[in-house]
This record gives sequence, structure tokens and C-alpha cells, in this order.
Amino acid sequence: MDIERIKQMTLEEGQGWGFAHSCRVLKLADLIGAELNYNREVVEYAVYLHDWGAFPTYFQVGVHHALRSRQVAQEEILPYTNLSVADQKIVAEAIELHDYRDPRPHTTVESLLVREADWLDMLGVIGIVREMAWGPNNLRQCYERILARREGIQGRLTIPQAREMEIERLARMEAVLAQLQEESFGIL
Ligand SMILES: [Fe+2]
Ligand SMILES: [Fe+2]
Repeated sequence: MDIERIKQMTLEEGQGWGFAHSCRVLKLADLIGAELNYNREVVEYAVYLHDWGAFPTYFQVGVHHALRSRQVAQEEILPYTNLSVADQKIVAEAIELHDYRDPRPHTTVESLLVREADWLDMLGVIGIVREMAWGPNNLRQCYERILARREGIQGRLTIPQAREMEIERLARMEAVLAQLQEESFGIL
């Protein structure tokens, strides 16, 4: 099992959103991690595997998708890679800790990078259109969810480059949401 196979499975199982989201998260991790010392291979594995627990094939009712992703990775994927046992553990932890609703602190620089990159993909115009794509076809509901995610994430990014991107993305969000309110007369 190599990273190419994992990327292929993310594409096949990720319902049209999982693979593109993971590719963006990896790009974000590269950008915000430019000045950090970390194992990129570990981050790449964690990024592609981090949301598998939300994919229909692996999803389990009552188990948080981040924990479920870790279980799948640890049971079905990581032991069959060339990663050392120590690196497998770092990947597994980064997966479990990625969600912004998890109040626990990160444990490694890799888990920090994965979570802050994932959070940035929920901000900005990309964050807005992702939320709209989730549906349902009820703009008020999508709009409320956009605000709730922004509320949950803003002010929590810590890597300097991530902070800069956060500020920029929050400003863009503000502008787009103001235009949305204006054009819709606030009727959503
Ligand atoms: Fe997630
Ligand atoms: Fe994600």
C-alpha cells in the first residue's frame, strides 16, 4: 500500500469532495509549513486519510468521523505501508486530532499542520462554496452553518503563515457574505 494507492482510494471513496479537499489541504500544509521542520511523508499520509471516516464506505453512526478515520487507517491501511511504527502512530494521531471541534491540543508538528490546513479549507470563498455544496437546498441553513464553522475556527490558528491566510480569508468571507445579504435583501 503506497501513497498513490491511498490517493486513488480517496478519489474512489470520497464522493466527489474528499479527494479535491485533501489535495487542497496538502497544498495548504505545504504553504503554512514552509518554515517548519516536519516529516512531509507523514503529513501526506495523514491528509489523504483524515476524512475517510466520513466517506459512506467507512462511516459509522455514533463514531466521530475523525476517530473513525483513525480506526480505518490504523486497522486497514497503515500497517501495510512502508512507514515505521513510530510514523504510523504520528499519522494516526494527526488524523484523530484534525477536527476543529476537538478541544484537545495537537501532539506533534505534523498534527498541527494537518489540522490548521484542514481548518483553512473551511474559511474564505472556498469555505462558503463547500458549505453550499453540502446542501440541503436551503440557503438559510447553509448560511447558518457557514457562520457556525467560522465562529468555531476563527482565532484558533497558530502557525504565523496560517494566521495570515486566516485574516485574508476572513476578510474575503466578510465581503462575499455582505454581497450575498445585499443581493438577497437578507431573504435566505
Ligand atoms: Fe474532517
Ligand atoms: Fe477535512
